[in-house]
Amino acid sequence: MIRRVIKIFKDKTEEEARQEILKIVEEYAVKYHNNPEEFKEGDKIAYASRVYDEKEIVNLVDSSLEFWLTSGRYTVEFEEKLAKYLGIDYCSFVNSGSSANLLAFLSLTSPLLGERQIKKGDEVITVAAGFPTTIAPIIQYGAVPVFVDVTIPQYNIDITQLEEALSDKTKAIMLAHTLGNPFSLTEVKKFCDENNLWLIEDNCDALGSTYDYDGKTKLTGTVGDIGTSSFYPPHHMTTGEGGAVYTDNPLLHKIVRSLRDWGRDCQCQSGQDNLCGNRFTKQYGELPLGYDHKYVYSHFGYNLKATDMQAAIGCAQIEKFPSFVEKRKENFEQLKEGLKCVSDKLILPEKEKNSDPSWFGFMITVKDGIERNSIVEYLENKGVQTRMLFAGNITKHPCFDEIRGDTTKYRIVGELTNTNKIMEDTFWIGVYPGMNREKIDYMIKCILESLKEKS
Ligand SMILES: Cc1ncc(COP(=O)(O)O)c(C=O)c1O
Repeated sequence: MIRRVIKIFKDKTEEEARQEILKIVEEYAVKYHNNPEEFKEGDKIAYASRVYDEKEIVNLVDSSLEFWLTSGRYTVEFEEKLAKYLGIDYCSFVNSGSSANLLAFLSLTSPLLGERQIKKGDEVITVAAGFPTTIAPIIQYGAVPVFVDVTIPQYNIDITQLEEALSDKTKAIMLAHTLGNPFSLTEVKKFCDENNLWLIEDNCDALGSTYDYDGKTKLTGTVGDIGTSSFYPPHHMTTGEGGAVYTDNPLLHKIVRSLRDWGRDCQCQSGQDNLCGNRFTKQYGELPLGYDHKYVYSHFGYNLKATDMQAAIGCAQIEKFPSFVEKRKENFEQLKEGLKCVSDKLILPEKEKNSDPSWFGFMITVKDGIERNSIVEYLENKGVQTRMLFAGNITKHPCFDEIRGDTTKYRIVGELTNTNKIMEDTFWIGVYPGMNREKIDYMIKCILESLKEKS
């Protein structure tokens, strides 16, 4: 075997050999990937999936041939490209959206923030209708999430409850743009500014959504102090596992990097030494003068970096990303048009005002007298994959059992009436860019049939 390999690469430089391998990989990917069979009714329609071509696979193999493994040149390239797309100064690639949320929140607990540091027992306004790892970091740290209700059919925070949620302990608001629909950024940011609160935008389900903020069209995730993304395969774009944290604030960026990279003070990339030129000259904490800055820790950190192979996939995905956003919007509109005729039975989703959502999915809430579960069951039996709005009402889950009713651990404003309705009556189906008109028409047909069956 080794003899055969040596023969193939005889007289070739390493670069020439690499190019030859990549050419073969490209041909392999074109021939064996992305060959969808003709759609037949009853075939599974996933709510989301990866959309890619040979470029992602070539990049992945290129990175694996390099065998750098940890973050490296592709990570730098991906962070730069994502920051450029978002129009933001700093971006950190991490190993998941949940890690991104953890870093975003924990960065606000850094002592480097002085008066504005979030301390244990401080409160963070959020919602209960959503994904668990938007709120888990708040509880894990020992801060107190304050849950307010959401509106239907936008599925975002009910801003009329903000005043009631506010206390002298409130330090931040942390919210997701639900399934791509931007929450009311103008009002929420104004409330934050008036009350000296941080704003974290969990942008994991909304990359590419825009909002008209202060006379400018801004991408979601870039209006608040920090934004986060997930690149898990069903998301707007993928790196396999992966996520990102972004900000325009250089201090928050420095803290995020420190917490991501073991808590260290030094900002050298993996494998880099003495970027600051002061590696052995300064004094930190109670360490001896000149202690190696590479091993000085300003935070109790983690290692949440992703690999260069993941970043390599991201570099190819980001080039295609604008076309994904357009397709998501188109699919959403087609579904909405096709289901208009049953709006007496189903509440169809509405975008927030001043926004242009890059939809993650198409949310449906059944009206009184209609059973959500029987529609969901009908669709699943017909091959149409469905999803709940994640936790529905996170405070109802077993993870709350240990702290249930303890208002020093979490608070609820009002009755969470719509949140509970979502838990009972809402589900969603996909709009991902890999869907075509035929599949969407089939989903519409199945939903209409399911309603006929029940009437
Ligand atoms: C709103 C929201 N935040 C965070 C996450 C977590 O992302 P990840 O799965 O990459 O950890 C998700 C995952 O789907 C999500 O929907």
